[in-house]
Amino acid sequence: MLSHILGEDIKQSNVRSILESKAVSSIYNFGNSSQIVNSKINRTNIHICGEKRQDAEEAKQRSPSPPESPQNKERSPIIDLTDAPELPYYYDRTSQLSTLKQWILQAHTRLITVYGLSGIGKSAIALKLIEQIQTEFDYIIWLSLTNTPALSTLQTELKQFFGRSQPTPLPTVIDYFRASRCLVILDDVQNIFKPGELASQYLAGYEDYGKFFKQIATSSHQSCLILLSWEKPREMIALEALNRPARTLHLKGLGEQAVEILREKGLTDEEKWSDLIALYQSHPSWLNIIASTIVELFDGSVSRFLADTNDIYLGDIEPILESQLEHLSKSEKKVSHWLASQDEAVDISQPPADSELSQSQLWQALQSLARRGLVEKVPVGGRSLFFLNPVFKAYIECR
Ligand SMILES: Nc1ncnc2c1ncn2[C@@H]1O[C@H](COP(=O)(O)OP(=O)(O)OP(=O)(O)O)[C@@H](O)[C@H]1O
Ligand SMILES: [Mg+2]
Repeated sequence: MLSHILGEDIKQSNVRSILESKAVSSIYNFGNSSQIVNSKINRTNIHICGEKRQDAEEAKQRSPSPPESPQNKERSPIIDLTDAPELPYYYDRTSQLSTLKQWILQAHTRLITVYGLSGIGKSAIALKLIEQIQTEFDYIIWLSLTNTPALSTLQTELKQFFGRSQPTPLPTVIDYFRASRCLVILDDVQNIFKPGELASQYLAGYEDYGKFFKQIATSSHQSCLILLSWEKPREMIALEALNRPARTLHLKGLGEQAVEILREKGLTDEEKWSDLIALYQSHPSWLNIIASTIVELFDGSVSRFLADTNDIYLGDIEPILESQLEHLSKSEKKVSHWLASQDEAVDISQPPADSELSQSQLWQALQSLARRGLVEKVPVGGRSLFFLNPVFKAYIECR
């Protein structure tokens, strides 16, 4: 039947390769629909979406490509999202998306880190970004570092992906970054950092990732690497300080859009929603979990839930918080316990008298907690005071 339908002589020995090539060519022919195709046929298969249209001309002017580049052959962008999670995206993050687009398309930023708490929506916003800017690139690939691949493995995978549609293979990833417009998203970057140490210290044997990130930011090319992480990598600090084409976005809650979560869950007492959203910092995962609790225990009544809780109720959020606190170093744990015991934001020029930490250890721990998005500062009377994220504070207090 397949031989007849596909017009090929199909045998057991060639069925796989013919089906794969047919699948690929039918994705190529997907035409103008511009949908990301996320086929799971094969781990390393290429996945292709619609054609460049009006943006193609603009992209050519902005970054002229060498003769062999796919741009000049008017090929569609080649997209591999096999490693990406499938996530819904209904709550708009217009301002953060505009910032990212401005950095990538206008400022030609080569290295971007989006960092923030687990479940805050880093992967969701990156998927939306791809959908909106895909026609600006020749290649887009999403790779997760969950299984902590060695840098050489990751680079081989990237070169294989870029090399499939190039007549001659190029020696390094940077060569592909120069020859074409490539967008690479590395997700779950915190996995290559040591747990139990200050933020963003590479695992033994993974230090070369830091050099790779730096090379991406400092070499000349026309591509972009986006890192999604719980922790801001330390290279970013030096690169940004030196005014290199590297930027960091600290992703926080959804803001007003979070009401949609409560609406979808069918919660009542709308006049109290802003209190609930503020309490859980418009964090999408936390609010989803708490909204389910309110349905389960209070028939959806936000007023009754808020009236019955003196502290911040954590419930099913606890495992998410714990998984992040497990990463803290000893000094960070001490400082977070100190901050959790304070009723107000603290002045770090007056450290706790009973602390066994020196001033420099205290400052390092605070910086590190801030790079994980756990500590924030507020300006008060011309100086900055520091406070622990209130939900983490509640968790540390009740342990
Ligand atoms: N803009 C959004 N629209 C709809 N749902 C969202 C949005 N942002 C986040 N979510 C939901 O919140 C949950 C967490 O989002 P996401 O997985 O993107 O977080 P994350 O920051 O990548 O977390 P982690 O660091 O643990 O991977 C998902 O279920 C996702 O559907
Ligand atoms: Mg994620």
